[in-house]
Amino acid sequence: MVVDSLFLILLAAYTVIGQYSNSSSTDSNFFNGPKIAIIGAGPGGSSAAYHLQKFTSNGFNITIFEKNNYVGGRSTTIENFDSSVNSDLELGASIFTSSNQILLNAVETFGLEAISSDEIFLEYPTVLEATTGIWDGTSFLDYLNPSAYSSAILEYLYYTVKYGFSFIKFVFFLGPKIIDLFLQNYYYSNFPYKSLTDITKDIGFDLLTGETGLQYLRTHGISDKFSKIFIEATTRVNYASNIDDITGLEALVSGAGSSSGAYQVYGGNYQIFENFIESSGSSLRLNNTIQTIKSLGSTYEISSLNENGEYESESFDKVIIAAPFHLSNITIDKNGYEISDIPDVEYRELYVTFVKSSTPLNNAKLVSASPDGTAPFILATSVSETGTTLDYYSVSIVDYDDTTGNYTYKIFSESSIDDNYLLEHFFDSSSSLEIIFQHHWNPYPHLTPITEFLDFEIGENLYYLNTIEQFISTMETAALAGANVAGLISKGLNTTAIELPNSSS
Ligand SMILES: Cc1cc2nc3c(=O)[nH]c(=O)nc-3n(C[C@H](O)[C@H](O)[C@H](O)COP(=O)(O)OP(=O)(O)OC[C@H]3O[C@@H](n4cnc5c(N)ncnc54)[C@H](O)[C@@H]3O)c2cc1C
Ligand SMILES: *[C@@H]1O[C@H](CO)[C@@H](O)[C@H](O)[C@H]1NC(C)=O
Ligand SMILES: *[C@@H]1O[C@H](CO)[C@@H](O)[C@H](O)[C@H]1NC(C)=O
Ligand SMILES: *[C@@H]1O[C@H](CO)[C@@H](O)[C@H](O)[C@H]1NC(C)=O
Ligand SMILES: *[C@@H]1O[C@H](CO)[C@@H](O)[C@H](O)[C@H]1NC(C)=O
Ligand SMILES: *[C@@H]1O[C@H](CO)[C@@H](O)[C@H](O)[C@H]1NC(C)=O
Ligand SMILES: *[C@@H]1O[C@H](CO)[C@@H](O)[C@H](O)[C@H]1NC(C)=O
Repeated sequence: MVVDSLFLILLAAYTVIGQYSNSSSTDSNFFNGPKIAIIGAGPGGSSAAYHLQKFTSNGFNITIFEKNNYVGGRSTTIENFDSSVNSDLELGASIFTSSNQILLNAVETFGLEAISSDEIFLEYPTVLEATTGIWDGTSFLDYLNPSAYSSAILEYLYYTVKYGFSFIKFVFFLGPKIIDLFLQNYYYSNFPYKSLTDITKDIGFDLLTGETGLQYLRTHGISDKFSKIFIEATTRVNYASNIDDITGLEALVSGAGSSSGAYQVYGGNYQIFENFIESSGSSLRLNNTIQTIKSLGSTYEISSLNENGEYESESFDKVIIAAPFHLSNITIDKNGYEISDIPDVEYRELYVTFVKSSTPLNNAKLVSASPDGTAPFILATSVSETGTTLDYYSVSIVDYDDTTGNYTYKIFSESSIDDNYLLEHFFDSSSSLEIIFQHHWNPYPHLTPITEFLDFEIGENLYYLNTIEQFISTMETAALAGANVAGLISKGLNTTAIELPNSSS
């Protein structure tokens, strides 16, 4: 047995692509309005900067403080060395869907290239036209070989025979209906809004957020069998959560994502957020960690550890916190003024591991359980139907190098995994393996049922974006929260209508 030396390359050894100049030049003709600090250069903070300047024709003087030395936050892209096809790998957020108005509009505005999952397949060798299996650790609960279906109709038929009308109901009615209601209310008619709670209750979405996925789908005529196999496979892949441990809304978001077109930005999703910041002309302070926000009444003094390891403080007229608060290590000094407490939200643990292998998945358990005697290329896990416990969520092929014949797989798991784990679950001793990259994330909140959300404005001129994550946690909704707070702040100062582009009209 030849197992190449397995080792973890530290983050520093790989190039994170999202490098960006430390501060962009500010045109002194603009930006002499109120001074705004944004904490976090992920999708939320970058969208806030972009929309603030867009709504007011550059009416603010914005400084963005970012702990990392790159832009994008959980949208992080790394270089994929020795690759023949897929030159970049998404280490965090990888896809967005056709209903993601803000991201798709940004792609167009900034001249980026969005590739759909279909196009990604066209670019790949045929080996990556992947078979997919839903696996519970012992057997396949479902197994899909795309080449076995000559048409989409046959594919629907397959699911309908297997799950009754649940599949049709989910794909054609429940998913699209929810997306329409969502766009109409959170993007258009009520935008910008102070309270997420009010709109959510007004349109009855509290029924979706207030129940688990399993409960919600059950009361809407989706069979438990379909939820526990098919929808749970998506909730585990997308949110590291089982169907009875995630809200109904996020279960639908997971399921809808898998049934409508998926996109990613060629060269890395982070480019959207880099362009947001660049076009806002904000001063970007990378490698600057905010430690405290002290209220001075209606303005704030914020203290940071800067790129030179020195402590700095500066006062701002307004502050936008654009990072999960309790993971940010920021202390808010209320100094006697009224500021809402940000509730503690538990985040999931997730390890993302990239493995290079000389073979596709070939573990004996997988091979002997599969209908055609080969392991699938994509493995999604689902455990509620059989009561199994598995501590990994998905394995997917992300690259095949036709010059070396090596495959690159991306594995999502709850704990750190090593060579023994790979051999136990995915490969066998004939495979030459190398873990090329592993990263720990707190990727999304533990999505327990909820109906009361913290308002975005938590104190006078102090805003918190990540309250939206308990509602929906995606790049798009982070960007939506940023645009919404930009709208609230710009009211009365705006030089253009405070609205989001409506690409469907
Ligand atoms: C593995 C993984 C897969 C995902 N898959 C998808 C997907 O396919 N599609 C999708 O839409 N979403 C996905 N997501 C979720 C998506 O990445 C997040 O919803 C989104 O990035 C949230 O944006 P944000 O700006 O609110 O937070 P973040 O992206 O976390 O950005 C916050 C920023 O604040 C910075 N920061 C934190 N504390 C401080 C401090 N004290 N001082 C200064 N800066 C600070 C952080 O360094 C970070 O850059 C995924 C996430 C992960 C991790
Ligand atoms: C950012 O600043 C750091 C420290 O001052 C410096 O080492 C680095 O080269 C700068 N990066 C860029 C892209 O200018
Ligand atoms: C914008 O804010 C920065 C940082 O506080 C400050 O140095 C600069 O003078 C301000 N610019 C204007 C035009 O007010
Ligand atoms: C959190 O912030 C405090 C100062 O507010 C600092 O002393 C401590 O080192 C920080 N911890 C981490 C893990 O960054
Ligand atoms: C970030 O700042 C620290 C000091 O706080 C320094 O040691 C480190 O090299 C900096 N990193 C980058 C990438 O600039
Ligand atoms: C990748 O391919 C090269 C060239 O064929 C080979 O030497 C190497 O062992 C392969 N790596 C892995 C992990 O299979
Ligand atoms: C400001 O925004 C409001 C709401 O969109 C809009 O009605 C108003 O016309 C805008 N003001 C200007 C000057 O464009």
